[in-house]
Amino acid sequence: MQKITVIGSINMDIVLRVPHIPAPGETILAQGVQTFGGGKGANQAAAIAKLGGDVTMIGRVGNDDHGRTLRTQLQANGVNTCGIETSDGVPTGTAYINVSDAGENNIVVNPGANGHVTPDMLARHTHLLGDAAYCLIQLETPIETLYACANLCKERDTRLIINPAPAAPLDFGKLQGAWMIVPNESELNLLIPGVGDIISKAKALREKGFPHVLVTLGAEGCLLVDGEGARTYPAYTALPVKDTTAAGDCFVGALAFGLSKGLGLSQAIHLAVRAAGISVSRAGAQASLPTWAEVEAVL
Ligand code: RIB
Repeated sequence: MQKITVIGSINMDIVLRVPHIPAPGETILAQGVQTFGGGKGANQAAAIAKLGGDVTMIGRVGNDDHGRTLRTQLQANGVNTCGIETSDGVPTGTAYINVSDAGENNIVVNPGANGHVTPDMLARHTHLLGDAAYCLIQLETPIETLYACANLCKERDTRLIINPAPAAPLDFGKLQGAWMIVPNESELNLLIPGVGDIISKAKALREKGFPHVLVTLGAEGCLLVDGEGARTYPAYTALPVKDTTAAGDCFVGALAFGLSKGLGLSQAIHLAVRAAGISVSRAGAQASLPTWAEVEAVL
């Protein structure tokens, strides 16, 4: 099993169950509120660890109860938390999430300590990148950290997988050497604006310098564009959808886990769509992530 390092956000998710996602200006009553461990980085690390992978996280929490709880939860899931630092005077990140009866969501994140995951911080933990075969990063931490991470991974021959979520413009020139990018459809449209179908946009993104472009398409599955052309993979839709929060994180984490286990890319994608298909059938972010036994049963 190869090592994986995840750099990214750690949030406490405050989740309101609502009949529908409220429109601007609309007031509605929630059916209940729950808290879950979340944050795109922490979710991806937890997804890998719950499947049995060897994963270390680099991130930041505040010196508060949320931070202590989230660190303990990650450890309980099997994540090595030696790269998680604590910030004084800034709160742990929080995400405010509405989840509708249809399983859709919208999310507002208050980044807090995630904003302090700086290039300087990465410099203190470069050994964690050098030791890893794969590194995962998203966009809930400062963009300069992404660019610094890309440089460090290139120097160390670590395969960098970028999940450009939440959507933001990227300076592609600072990401040369990245191994894969995994956008969803709206992130792809932001990165490659203008008219064009998903395949042509994915190909255009590949030409920006990413050898592998893997576009997640929700219930439509995913599309891989690499040196061998374009291939689609269907979603795993056997289970009813309850909450899609962290489905993308589950997918990316499970993909990296499969690769770290020595699977080929198509086999790793097959595994990742099943893991994500299980996660959407359950509530919460990290709470919804499947174990290896659960995924193996549907491979
Ligand atoms: O991708 C889902 C995650 O986005 C949630 O857990 C929330 O914390 C936000 O970061």
